[in-house]
Amino acid sequence: MSSVSSNRAPIGVIGTGYVGLVTAAGFAALGSDVYCVDIDAEKIAGLRAGRVPIWEPGLAELIAEHRERLHFSTDLGAALEHARLLFVAVGTPPTYSGDADLSAVHAVVGAMPPSDRHALVMKSTVPVGTGESIERVFAEQGKGFRYVSCPEFLKEGSAVKDFLEPDRVVIGDSGDWAGDAVEALYAPLDAPIVRTDVKSAEMVKLASNAFLATKISFINEIANVCEETGADVVEVARGMGLDDRIGPKFLQAGIGFGGSCFPKDVTALKQLAGNSGYHFQLLNAVIEVNELQKRRVIAKLQKHLGSLVGKEIALLGLAFKPNTDDMREASSLVLSSRLQGAGARVRVYDPVAEEEARKLIRGVVFAPAATEAVAGADAIVLVTEWPEFRELDLAAAVQSMRGTLLVDGRNFIDPEAARAAGFVYEAIGRPSPHGAR
Ligand code: UDX
Repeated sequence: MSSVSSNRAPIGVIGTGYVGLVTAAGFAALGSDVYCVDIDAEKIAGLRAGRVPIWEPGLAELIAEHRERLHFSTDLGAALEHARLLFVAVGTPPTYSGDADLSAVHAVVGAMPPSDRHALVMKSTVPVGTGESIERVFAEQGKGFRYVSCPEFLKEGSAVKDFLEPDRVVIGDSGDWAGDAVEALYAPLDAPIVRTDVKSAEMVKLASNAFLATKISFINEIANVCEETGADVVEVARGMGLDDRIGPKFLQAGIGFGGSCFPKDVTALKQLAGNSGYHFQLLNAVIEVNELQKRRVIAKLQKHLGSLVGKEIALLGLAFKPNTDDMREASSLVLSSRLQGAGARVRVYDPVAEEEARKLIRGVVFAPAATEAVAGADAIVLVTEWPEFRELDLAAAVQSMRGTLLVDGRNFIDPEAARAAGFVYEAIGRPSPHGAR
């Protein structure tokens, strides 16, 4: 960040989920007054009282620090009165057909009054062509509203840092004041700015997420081949990642990707292509590999335990990744259901996501600590690589168990340490002394 000005354009932010709140807090930190709007009255009342509804490192602190510049309301009035740029960060969840559900976006568009001095800045991930159709709606209604696509690339767990230090800012617009105004807002971050047309900006977002998801499914398949051939995927990824053209990131094999973006955006892009008459074969495979990857853990357990009927299985970690309480599309959801389907009894522990998980996972025992989840278990499955699981006293853990199996779904625990402690240790794509699987 090169400078923080106290005299910056006020903005509106519609939708106070992950993206909306981080965007709001980030721009407040850069000096803007931010008028946040959400239809959820309870959430707004909480935010006014200083309660941050999501668990995201540094976010509550940033909101508290810039409270005087953050205004929360269920009403658009103040945002429209004070700000020209209205950032839209409402949910676009998948529908049954795999298309994005744009009803919340359409509700926002419909709520805009006629105005020549405002612009909608789309942060929500939308199909390519959404901006064009919104611009057409505005034109037909004679509203004069401008439209900018400004996709968000932040990652949960490091969202505040990602906002303040983005790899790039993508701004798609039709060449009027609004695109320049968005660029001016982001200028203090000193990030590369990609100015382009609206459709290309929309596609950058979908293509980036689909590419990253492909990278994960690719390394997961390499891991599966490593298991058959005796190679070690961690070593393979290390060797591959040093090639500049490949890079070391998103090459961690595991039990599949989850979260609010990858599964949804890969499906949305596949669907978008299909709707336009193109069959995106590669993405079908990316999705299928990911689904199978979650289920391979069951076979690893069965290899050692035989039938899982009546077996006690402890899941360590539930969130789709560490440093978040987000359970959307978490691998733990499929795993806990599959385990119960196979007759196992499942106990689970997550340092942060228990409250969210209780809304989605049925029939399992929630333990208050990792040590309590594993005590008496036949096997442990490490699902989410929370740092505290590296601190687990492995010898004490295995002593407290009925069995000795540890399936490390994230290649997170040191194999030597686990085996020295007395565990039968299985990882993803790493040599197993117990033969291929
Ligand atoms: C992702 C994109 O990274 C971000 O740019 C976009 O805005 C939203 O989607 P997020 O879902 O927060 O962010 O998490 P990310 O850190 O990208 O991880 C996604 C999933 O992939 C997690 O389930 C993670 O465990 C998994 N993953 C990631 C792997 O399995 N292996 C890897 O090497 C990296």
